Amino acid sequence: MRLWGHPIHPMLVHFPVVFWTVAAVAYVAAATGVEAAATVATFSNGAGLIFAMLAMIAGLIELRAIAGDGDAMRVAISHMTAMGAAWFCFMLALVMATAAGARLDKSTAQLTGAGGACAGFLLLSVGGWLGGRLVYEFGIGVTGRRK
Ligand code: HEM
Repeated sequence: MRLWGHPIHPMLVHFPVVFWTVAAVAYVAAATGVEAAATVATFSNGAGLIFAMLAMIAGLIELRAIAGDGDAMRVAISHMTAMGAAWFCFMLALVMATAAGARLDKSTAQLTGAGGACAGFLLLSVGGWLGGRLVYEFGIGVTGRRK
């Protein structure tokens, strides 16, 4: 899927990468007692979840560019799985933050949220590396070089 010749998936992916990275740091800071960080974590995570959902839609459409079930498709499936799992980990962190105090002991909720965000960040890193392989190793989304 392209916009004026530019693939849309790579245009979108930077947003969840940045928002989730900020959120992961903020969740850890909140769990170590920095009160203001909890708000940053919630908003940054929420934005990351929305942009990641948009990136997933564009990524699923981009899957059509991969022919057959060879190595590129296997890497694409691993990339998709890692990013899907990252999404669920960050969603868990968000749910935990909203449960803090009301339905769950605050420190337990904060620790679980930080754990979920850290796991999500690790999955995001693995998924990003696999996404890079798709482009720079298999040339997915690359239309050709101008000399
Ligand atoms: C259903 C989920 C997803 C699928 C099927 C998918 C598929 C793809 C495909 C086919 C590529 C190579 C072609 C292209 O760049 O358009 C790619 C690259 C990439 N994807 Fe995804 N993706 C998904 C979700 C995500 C998410 C949620 C993120 C970020 C949080 C992400 C980050 C990346 C990155 C960083 C690259 C490398 C881009 C580059 O270096 O230019 N993907 N993905």
